[in-house]
Amino acid sequence: MNEIKAPKGTRDIFAPEIQKWHYLENAIHTYYKKFLYQEIRTPIFEHSELFSRGIGSETEVVQKEMYTFTDKSDRSLTLRPENTASVVRAAIENNIFETLAPLRFYYIGPMFRYDKPQKGRYRQFQQFGIEVFADDSPQVDAEVIFAAVDFLKKLGIEAMQLDLNSVGCPQCRPGYLQVLRKAARTEESRLCADCRRKIDGNPLRIFDCKLPACAEIAGSLPLISDHLCGECRDHFATVRETLSWMNVSFQLNPRMVRGLDYYTKTAFEITSGQLGAQNALLGGGRYNNLIKELGGPDMAGIGFAAGMERIILHLQHLEVPQAKILFVAYQDPQWLAHAIQLAQVLREEGFPVYLDYQGKNLKKQFKKADRVAAAFTLILAEDEIKNGSVSIKNMATQEQIKISLKELNEWLKKNY
Ligand code: HAM
Repeated sequence: MNEIKAPKGTRDIFAPEIQKWHYLENAIHTYYKKFLYQEIRTPIFEHSELFSRGIGSETEVVQKEMYTFTDKSDRSLTLRPENTASVVRAAIENNIFETLAPLRFYYIGPMFRYDKPQKGRYRQFQQFGIEVFADDSPQVDAEVIFAAVDFLKKLGIEAMQLDLNSVGCPQCRPGYLQVLRKAARTEESRLCADCRRKIDGNPLRIFDCKLPACAEIAGSLPLISDHLCGECRDHFATVRETLSWMNVSFQLNPRMVRGLDYYTKTAFEITSGQLGAQNALLGGGRYNNLIKELGGPDMAGIGFAAGMERIILHLQHLEVPQAKILFVAYQDPQWLAHAIQLAQVLREEGFPVYLDYQGKNLKKQFKKADRVAAAFTLILAEDEIKNGSVSIKNMATQEQIKISLKELNEWLKKNY
């Protein structure tokens, strides 16, 4: 029989790496609550239309990377490739605009993209992200960016670069797209077939093409930064000024347009020098039309999402402190009931406790205690049972003492 393997581009995660995931997840829950973000959990799959309308039908994600399937009732469903569209859909559907304040959400969860797997790039990957609705203040943009940079710094990630751009709004973007189309047409014969198609659809997407020839042409195409309307220019200037007050350094990158169509005004990306080809740690921006386009009120939005596998790659050397394990051993199976009860009491007190039900003799149980890396083994033998005591073996030093069960709690408080 053929061995069944995990699908390409997916990963199994277990100890010790899982400890880093718990550490990261706890850090996210703690950090973002300080800015009043509330967790939101949305379904893993949605109606496909949400993403084609929300993300944009010309994007790589929608064109090439979606896991779309038809269910038994002939509905087209898609495993979410990102979560912004889902959060917006959930807010509209549940009308939380009226009931929740402030409108700030964070999420942690798996996303799915049919991408070519490589280091740091998976087909099922984990993102965390934040979204803020109903506030178009440029200071919010700066605060969102600060909450990305500062969080990564607090995890110990220093070697990163923040790229910043403004991608305009419905006032200035159409004019810019005309100029861009015209310029792209003059280079049409040198562009790849995909990019040629983008000229009429959304020429901004030419900037996403990874082919060297197209990237070279993109390098000389007109830039949105030279075509922003007054409002976008002022907004962007205040974002930059506020970032400087917050001590956040950035690099202006007028060619960074992000791969999703919903962005307006501020767009940003954080890359890491430590990651190789898949160096984007995090990306985001403003999406002031998305909520309205998906049927909600005319309300601004901004957020970002980060690739958690890529953050974990930066936490290689992190030693997450683990609670010490207590191992309860019994000299003879007749003392098993006492051992079980002692384990129960200790777990009630909050200690991680293991006992080996198959432990035929103490020697075998000590071996097991070593395998689970127990800090102390608590031994129950005839003598201990008779006297209401317990022997405690320090597994590192091999020292052993005997104390009364009544003193155990006190002893653990001092020595654990
Ligand atoms: P995105 O740039 O498509 O933005 O993805 C955000 C991050 O997810 C990337 O910077 C990267 O770290 C990670 N990522 C993307 N694809 C993969 C993959 N195949 N394997 C591993 N990691 C990956 C969004 O998803 C937007 N929803 C962000 C946003 C939120 N914009 C506004 N609000």
